[in-house]
Amino acid sequence: MLVEGIITVAEKIKLAIVGCGSMAYAHADWLREVPEAEVVGLCDINKANLDHYWKNKFGGREEIRRYDSMDKMMKSPPPGLDGVIIITPHALHFPQAMAALDHGYHVLVEKPMVTRSADARKLAEKVRKTGLLLQVSFQASYSCEFAYIRNVLQNQGLGELQTVTAWSHQQWRPTGPRSTWTWRQDPKLSGGGQMYDTGAHLFNAISWAVDRPIEEVFCWVDRKGIPVDINAVMTLRWEGGLMGTAMISGNTPGWDEGIIIAGEKGRLHTGIHGGRLEHYHEGGKIKYPLVTAPNYTPDKNFVYCLLGREEPLCPVRYGILHSWLMDALYKSAKLGEPVKVSKPPLPTQTWTNQTGKYVSKRTGGAASLGSMVASENVVNPC
Ligand SMILES: NC(=O)c1ccc[n+]([C@@H]2O[C@H](COP(=O)([O-])OP(=O)(O)OC[C@H]3O[C@@H](n4cnc5c(N)ncnc54)[C@H](O)[C@@H]3O)[C@@H](O)[C@H]2O)c1
Repeated sequence: MLVEGIITVAEKIKLAIVGCGSMAYAHADWLREVPEAEVVGLCDINKANLDHYWKNKFGGREEIRRYDSMDKMMKSPPPGLDGVIIITPHALHFPQAMAALDHGYHVLVEKPMVTRSADARKLAEKVRKTGLLLQVSFQASYSCEFAYIRNVLQNQGLGELQTVTAWSHQQWRPTGPRSTWTWRQDPKLSGGGQMYDTGAHLFNAISWAVDRPIEEVFCWVDRKGIPVDINAVMTLRWEGGLMGTAMISGNTPGWDEGIIIAGEKGRLHTGIHGGRLEHYHEGGKIKYPLVTAPNYTPDKNFVYCLLGREEPLCPVRYGILHSWLMDALYKSAKLGEPVKVSKPPLPTQTWTNQTGKYVSKRTGGAASLGSMVASENVVNPC
């Protein structure tokens, strides 16, 4: 019988990381805060990156299996592997997530889930058939600020939604050490430019918050002479008449970003990763207190889902909403005209653990999003 608070190695959720570059360091730190998880495998095609990561983040522990290709990892996986965390260039997310699901592993994939809506559809279908969990790693969806926003919107706290305004200014093109001349500016690996990089946070954050399909968009893009988008401006119309405007500016110093969601009864101002929040109400301004506790992370939610403690905060549904939007934006930019969007095949919002394997492992039932939010994240601003 399990004694609460004591976690033995056999009970831990065993994970492998694919892609040991810069963002993998953040995931290692996030996983360190989840004692219920154990990293048992690492994979990178670049040996120097893999070795550096293994030594620096995992103390060069010999029991961690290392692979130079995902194929090899799938053919000879670490014993007891439960899930794979994919942190590679964007266009690899789809084939690698599909490979992991095909082999029976749960997946946490870095943003964006895919770079084509057709691939999102295939992943959703695979998830439906297998009952495995596929979750997307966007910080906003796991942040306490967006938990608050979700609660306000679900409870009609802003009344009928009117407009969404979102923007990001960043020096992404010329000097970003992780962007210039790397895979980020090669469309075959990135799927697109700043709209698919920092823009993925912005577009996912607004898609996640309003949680409804996009219906029509218009988009202008400027590549500033390189193969991928650097600047973009767009107008958006969602189901239900909600309208929005978004702007991505990738060739300007520093970083400034934000989102404003306006309704007939109030407004929410936040960042594209969360991190700050102001709630303007009809009765006056409510300042949401700064949350000093560390944010809830994608990795923690992923592991807790596999333990049956929680429901996923960013399941495949949001990868679908995001990819439908992105395809429409790029199509509009290419055609130079507004584009109407077909209705996406949206799965139900929550993941129900069809395997039963993980639910029985610890608590015997999945917690609802509401109870997770209440216990972990929300500080009442009033
Ligand atoms: N959530 C965030 O705030 C955030 C921030 C940065 C990056 N990211 C995302 O993380 C992902 C990776 O970005 P990064 O900045 O770490 O890039 P990176 O270039 O630093 O690292 C990518 C790693 O993937 C490896 N790789 C390439 N092809 C591979 C393959 N076929 N199999 C295994 N490994 C392979 C590379 O060798 C490299 O080590 C992207 O999806 C990016 O958008 C998210």
